[in-house]
This record gives sequence, C-alpha cells and structure tokens, in this order.
Amino acid sequence: MAVGSALKFLWPFSRREQRDEEGQFPASGYVASRDVRGARVRADFPNFRASALDRPLGGVGAERREISRARFALATYFTPTQPVTDRSSFAGRLGVLSRLISAIESQRSHVVLYGERGIGKTSLLHVLADVARESSYIVSYATCGAHADFSDLFRSALSDVPLLFHRGVAPNTDEAESGRKLADRLPAGPFDASELAALCSEIVGTRVLIVLDEYDRVTSPDFRQQVAELIKNLSDRAARVHLVIAGVASNLQELIGYVPSIRRNVIGLPMPRLEEEEVQEMVALGEAASGVRFDPNLTRVVHLLSLGSPYLARLLCHHAAQEALDHGRLTVDMGHLRSAVDLAIAEVEGRMAPRAVAELRKLVSGRYDPVVAALSEASRSSDGWFSGRSVVQLLPNTSVTAQQVERELAELAGKLQLETENVDEERRFRFSDDNLPVYLWLMLGRTRLDSPTLEADLSSR
Ligand SMILES: Nc1ncnc2c1ncn2[C@@H]1O[C@H](COP(=O)(O)OP(=O)(O)OP(=O)(O)O)[C@@H](O)[C@H]1O
Ligand SMILES: [Mg+2]
Repeated sequence: MAVGSALKFLWPFSRREQRDEEGQFPASGYVASRDVRGARVRADFPNFRASALDRPLGGVGAERREISRARFALATYFTPTQPVTDRSSFAGRLGVLSRLISAIESQRSHVVLYGERGIGKTSLLHVLADVARESSYIVSYATCGAHADFSDLFRSALSDVPLLFHRGVAPNTDEAESGRKLADRLPAGPFDASELAALCSEIVGTRVLIVLDEYDRVTSPDFRQQVAELIKNLSDRAARVHLVIAGVASNLQELIGYVPSIRRNVIGLPMPRLEEEEVQEMVALGEAASGVRFDPNLTRVVHLLSLGSPYLARLLCHHAAQEALDHGRLTVDMGHLRSAVDLAIAEVEGRMAPRAVAELRKLVSGRYDPVVAALSEASRSSDGWFSGRSVVQLLPNTSVTAQQVERELAELAGKLQLETENVDEERRFRFSDDNLPVYLWLMLGRTRLDSPTLEADLSSR
C-alpha cells in the first residue's frame, strides 16, 4: 500500500473536509471554546480541573461547584499515596496512639513501631508528632535512607533543639537568645553514641522525641549498632530524649536486631490492621469534608476488600468517589466501586511483569479460587510469610489439611513467585513480589462484586 493511501486509511478525511460551511470545526469534535491563550480547544480534551493553587478552573468543561469542591476534599481525605499529616483526616488508631504516648510518657521508654508496608506507620507518627508538640515536646522527624549516617542524622535532629534547653545556658543571656541550636555543641566531625548521649543528658526544661521512620531501609550494621548503643546510653543517663523507631518488620528484633542489653529500654508496638469501624470512620471523615455520600454496604465491602490496609481502603474509596464525581454524582454506589476495583487492578498490573499478569489471570475463576483467596489473605501478615496451616485456617472447607495446601503451593510456587523456607520444622511461603497477593485478592474481589447475591449476603451478615 502506498504511503498516501495508508495515511488515508488511518485518517480518511483531510482537516479541511472536517470543517463546516463556516470554516469552523464541528462542536462535537474539535471546538468548544478557547483556552487561556485564546487558542481553540476541544471540549473533551483532558485537562486539570483545578489550578496549582487548588482553585477550581472555570471555562471549558467546568463542572458543578459542589462536584469540584468534593474533588478537592477527596484529594485530601482519600489520597492513597500520601501519609496523613494532620488529625482532621486521621481515622481510628486511638488504641495504638495511646499506647505509644503512654510508653513515652509513663514508662519513659523508647519505642519501636513495626508493621507491614502501607499499614499506617508514618501517618501515626505524624499525628504523634502533632500531639507531642502540643504538649511542648520538641519533635525531630527523620526518614532513614539505605546509607543513613549516624553523625549526620543526629546532628540534623539536634538542630531542631534550641540551645536554650541546655542545662549550662542561662535564660535571657545572649547565648540563650542567639537562636543557636544544641547541634552547635556537637564535635565538628563524626561522633559516637556515648558523646551524643552525654550532650542529650544536658537537656532540661523540655523533652525531645527523635522519630526515625523507614528504619528497615538502613543497611549499615554499624548504624544500627550505634543506635542500639544510643538507646542504652540515653536510658542509663535518664536523658530527656526518646527515640521512636518505625519500619516494615514482623517483630521488634527484626527491625532493630537482637541486642539483649536494650531489651528492657524499648517497647515494641505492632501496628494493627484497620478494624471495620475504623474504615467507617475514614469514610465518614471523607463524607463530612466532601459532601459525597457512600452507600452503607459499600463501606463494609471496602473493609473486606482492603484486608485492614488503610492504603487499600483509601485507594478504593478514592477511585470509587472519583468515578461517581466523573459521572456528576455525589452518591457513591456499588457500580462505582466496581470501576474503582478495575482501576486498582490495572494500577497493580502496571507494577508487575506482563508475564506474571498473564499467569495470574489464569489462576483466578478456576479450581484454585478458595486457596488463592486464602493465601492472599494469609500473606497479609506483617512480614508477608505464611504457612500451609495459616492458609487452612482461612479456608471454608475444614477437611483440607496443611499438607495438602503445602503440596498445592509447591505446585503453584513458580507461577506465584513464592519464596520458601523452613522455620522450626514448618514450611513457610512468601510472595517475592508483594503486588501479587494484592492483585489476586482484588481480582477475586472483583468476581465477588459481580455476584448477584452480594447485596443480600451483606445485609444478612
Ligand atoms: N489512620 C489513618 N486514617 C486515614 N488514612 C490513613 C491512616 N493511616 C494510614 N492512612 C493512609 O494509608 C496509606 C498508607 O499510610 P502510611 O504511609 O502512613 O503507611 P506506612 O505504614 O508508613 O507505609 P510504608 O510502609 O510504605 O512506609 C496513606 O494513604 C495514608 O494516608
Ligand atoms: Mg511510611
């Protein structure tokens, strides 16, 4: 085929032919209005709905005021990619927050907060920082990287503490009012845990919280050892400085290592999964702020689909609400949630290798469904490891044995990219890509949402 005819095949009309008698492009296709520069634009061309100043844009495709208002509110209340930074959008978690506060305040302890990815550790730390500052604590927050350096990180933490709180600095003196920081009293070069603890023990008139988030990313054993030494030294000196360490781990030891000497100085707090009431609260906060209403059954389904993960709960609420708003609706129903699950599935697929996606699709809607559902749920343990026994406990058919499940898993290990290991004579499994169980779970959830008995099943629960 000649080039010209191929072009004509793809694009049968010339631009000239598309114009009407007045030489204008037809309204349904190309011209609806002009953009800010006065150029012609087509009405259905995707555009931002708000300016970067968070103000709704008028003009082409402008939507109803309450819909735009709801969009802004949802971006704050259901954004799945950012931690919560203030109390007004923080749902539930009161139990773990009060344990955290009491560990610091009543037990003068250091705390290690651990749990799976996306379970809400950073959000909880932000809210803790907020309430601690209200009680005049000085809070320094650091996100650890793989190559965290002990001296750099703690120098930066002590730059948040005014020198005024050093025991040796008298109030109302030039030194106290110079705006200098405690970090100025550190040696110019590297320093160790005992030098740092000695300086920290000079703090009076306040308490300091040093939050070390994403601690699991630190690879240097030396850094971890120094932090353990610091905890021991701070405790021994009864310094007014507390460390709050957070990261992905299944237990305290996994995160900070096995250091017998600091066991008594640290309280480990596991980050629990969201309860149904907490998901309800998350939805209620979004509803109150945005004016969008969720069908009550929907909240229950979001809770079941999210398996207690605030990340997944927010993602589904966000997509479902956006879907409703895109259709000019302020009430979110099951249809919107179905589209939200489709979108979430497509997003997870985008993070996986195409071959894995093709293999996993074959596994859903077949004889493996109950096992796949059970192992997706079992894999939501804080470190992702699960056993045949934990899968059996989730299976509806109790006649299945752990050995049978282990055999099935051995058969599926390649397709599911399962790692295996033996611990205390029990075989354990883990997905090497943590997108996989979420993907499988959502795929099965999607099938369930299509079930004609869904609404009746939910009302009878
Ligand atoms: N209490 C909460 N109320 C409302 N949303 C929450 C709450 N906790 C967490 N979220 C939401 O869940 C998602 C994950 O939260 P967050 O980033 O705090 O988790 P994380 O455990 O720190 O994750 P990671 O392991 O990836 O660091 C975010 O979108 C956050 O806004
Ligand atoms: Mg985090």
